[in-house]
Amino acid sequence: MRIGFVYDLRDDYLAEGFTAEEVVEFDTRETLGHIEGSLIRLGHEVERVGRGQQLARRLAQGQRWDMVFSIAEGLQGRSREAQVPAVLELFDQPYLFSDPLTMALTLDKSMAKRVVASAGIPTAPWRVVASPDEIDAIDLEMPLFVKPLWEGTGKGCDVNSLVRERKALPGVIRAKLERYRQPVLVETFLSGREFTVGFIGNVPDVHVLGVMEIVLNARADAEVYTMTNKELSESRVDYHRADDAVGEQVVALGRAAFAALGCRDVARLDFRCDARGNPYFLEANPLPGMHRTHSDLPIIAGLMKVTYDELMAMIVTAGCQRLSIPQQPG
Ligand SMILES: Nc1ncnc2c1ncn2[C@@H]1O[C@H](COP(=O)(O)OP(=O)(O)O)[C@@H](O)[C@H]1O
Ligand SMILES: [Mg+2]
Repeated sequence: MRIGFVYDLRDDYLAEGFTAEEVVEFDTRETLGHIEGSLIRLGHEVERVGRGQQLARRLAQGQRWDMVFSIAEGLQGRSREAQVPAVLELFDQPYLFSDPLTMALTLDKSMAKRVVASAGIPTAPWRVVASPDEIDAIDLEMPLFVKPLWEGTGKGCDVNSLVRERKALPGVIRAKLERYRQPVLVETFLSGREFTVGFIGNVPDVHVLGVMEIVLNARADAEVYTMTNKELSESRVDYHRADDAVGEQVVALGRAAFAALGCRDVARLDFRCDARGNPYFLEANPLPGMHRTHSDLPIIAGLMKVTYDELMAMIVTAGCQRLSIPQQPG
């Protein structure tokens, strides 16, 4: 197939003056190389299109591909991950991964929690705080976890996010409101084991890739899979297959959440247990990171003895089957 490759490259934005933290959700040259190399080895022809605006320009000029593979996260607002899929739909261009509704729904962690909760999937009690006047009304029990409402890659999930004392809560919330310029999600802190589970396919044929437990070692920021722990995961995090009873529970809940959120082709869902060992939905990632050795989904694949190319082939096949597009060589 001729595949159009759409992405937000960190270096492009750094060159335009954005800070390292502002671009942390975006992808590195290395990740682009991993994806492109794999698609080529699978027999496809890959054209690098660039970011959403470049895609829109080309589509408006009449250019089309057999399929678009977009990992673009978008720059602004709570629908930023929906922007590229929406443009693709507008121009009737077939593409992999979830549609605009699911992309926007899952980026806003409160919206995603509402939908999974209504499907009977446990998720920790929470409040959304858009302005400091709302802080006094928070009636949740301590300890709490404070994170930006529509970020990813651990952005804004740092050592200050875990708040044990009520008197410290206003300061943490104010700092995050100011720094991330968006509402914050204040949630019951879940102190137990943490898992992430990958699925590939489309309802009703959704296959679990694997479920992995995330274990922080002594060098890591304590208790939270923070942005820094993720960035330095090679030295701070141990990843294990989770084949025990709780892992199975996470797979069942994850499968239900994948369907409730309307995910397509692939998604990775995060769960964490409370002190009693019961798992709760944290958030869903319909655009999971795809760095070959560093991102959670390829790490899950590795634990399951699935190679990166096999993982990519499974994702592309899921999308082609959904769209009834034959995967002829490029
Ligand atoms: N309510 C919570 N209780 C305990 N830890 C949490 C909670 N929410 C998030 N975390 C920690 O913060 C990390 C990042 O949060 P997550 O919601 O997955 O955001 P991101 O989109 O940045 O991955 C999680 O992997 C987990 O370690
Ligand atoms: Mg996460």
